[in-house]
Amino acid sequence: MPTCTIDGRQVEFKPGENLVEAAKRAGIEVPVFCYHPGLSVVAQCRMCAVEVQGIKKIQTACSTKAAEGMVVLTQSEPVKKARESVMEFLLINHPLDCPICDQSGECDLQDNSFGHGSAHMRYTEERRTYVDLDMGPVIKKNMNRCIHCTRCIRFGDEIAGIREMVAMQRGNNTEITTLDGRPLETDYAGNYADICPTGSLTLKDFRFKKRAWMVKKTATVCEGCSRGCNIELHWDHATVFRTLPRENASINRYWICDEGRFNYRYIHDEQRVISPVVAKSGAAAPGWPAAVVAAREALRGKRVELLLGSDLTLEEAQLIQKFAGDFFPGARLSHFGTPGIKSTSDDGDADKILKRKSKTSNLHGMEKLGVPGFGALSKETTGILVFRAGRAELPEWGGVAAVGVGVFMEPQAARFAALLPSATFAEKDGTIVNFAGVSQRLVRAVPPPGDCKQISEILMMWANSGRAGGAS
Ligand code: SF4
Ligand code: SF4
Ligand code: FES
Repeated sequence: MPTCTIDGRQVEFKPGENLVEAAKRAGIEVPVFCYHPGLSVVAQCRMCAVEVQGIKKIQTACSTKAAEGMVVLTQSEPVKKARESVMEFLLINHPLDCPICDQSGECDLQDNSFGHGSAHMRYTEERRTYVDLDMGPVIKKNMNRCIHCTRCIRFGDEIAGIREMVAMQRGNNTEITTLDGRPLETDYAGNYADICPTGSLTLKDFRFKKRAWMVKKTATVCEGCSRGCNIELHWDHATVFRTLPRENASINRYWICDEGRFNYRYIHDEQRVISPVVAKSGAAAPGWPAAVVAAREALRGKRVELLLGSDLTLEEAQLIQKFAGDFFPGARLSHFGTPGIKSTSDDGDADKILKRKSKTSNLHGMEKLGVPGFGALSKETTGILVFRAGRAELPEWGGVAAVGVGVFMEPQAARFAALLPSATFAEKDGTIVNFAGVSQRLVRAVPPPGDCKQISEILMMWANSGRAGGAS
């Protein structure tokens, strides 16, 4: 690899890499606003000032490619002075909003002001203010805080594929807005909040729910479709508050879609069944032992099929396969999840960005285990045992006796003789296989609510209830 020298250190860089990335490799952070590794380089904020030996003027590190033998200074006096001036310029119109701003604690403007700004400013004129129109359900706009970095405009143009954010007017009157003040249209709008380096674009869903420094973070994978975007769940006290994208160059780069971002909401849905349910038992809360016995009774003497949601993990599906062999020998197993998607050959891109047609995460894992797609129940079938992790869409099964194990909502409960509630993707560990055959780990962030149990525990209770002399 070629090398350059940054702050006296020999740094290897990839050909074509800019000085921000090369410095990062050596653990040297160059402050940026307009630069984002997933977007084109425009070099307009001037925050990434560096000195390059042999060039008189200060250079912008984001638009300067590292070159063999190049000598760069990121901490010289001229560099510090340049950054301080940029900060002073950017803050002349910025309100002193931090205490009431949702970006506080994860704001590049705040961090760079603290790290590179000055405690004084010379501006005495009145600050510029805007009236903000509503941008739709995802993003809250506050243009008084905008520094005109244009990341949002470039995201719309280059990633979302829709020119909906624009800079209107010029100079001091520049305003970032949607065309004609229309609401945002992209299905990827949440990314606007992620990339905005200030509190100008924030997520309506997360606003004022938690301070950024109060949440714990769990690195896991989105279960919203067969792409398996890498995400971080932010949670506190057993409640998930938001989902953010996690960089993975070969799967989702820096982005996630809104469906995946807000998928977490069902975890805390009031209608989620979180205690065992036995239909017609008359008992509001039958408790686990009675519910497991009732579930076994409901299928006693029946010709049973097992339906597995393609949102289950590999480990869960393997356990169910073993369980089926022990308790329902010869029973047919099939997977379900997205109407019209019976096998991996039906899956494909749902748009030009990330979304896939399969709305469950482990369709490809199910096929790896040899479980075929569900079409219809066989004529002889008189009972079904349905496993579902939260996303798979329930198929039709007519009037046969049904027992459900997994994640269900109250309106679905009426279809089952017994329901044994289990954990969502955020409440368990496990493996899922994405459309490209990449195995990834779901990581438990929060405990399951109420009386929910892991599927492994439920199957063990089922087995033990037989041994204890219960139904067979
Ligand atoms: S709204 Fe945010 S991302 Fe867009 S230009 Fe302003 S500061 Fe940059
Ligand atoms: S594209 Fe699929 S995996 Fe990625 S965030 Fe959206 S729903 Fe989740
Ligand atoms: S980050 Fe380089 S000019 Fe904005």
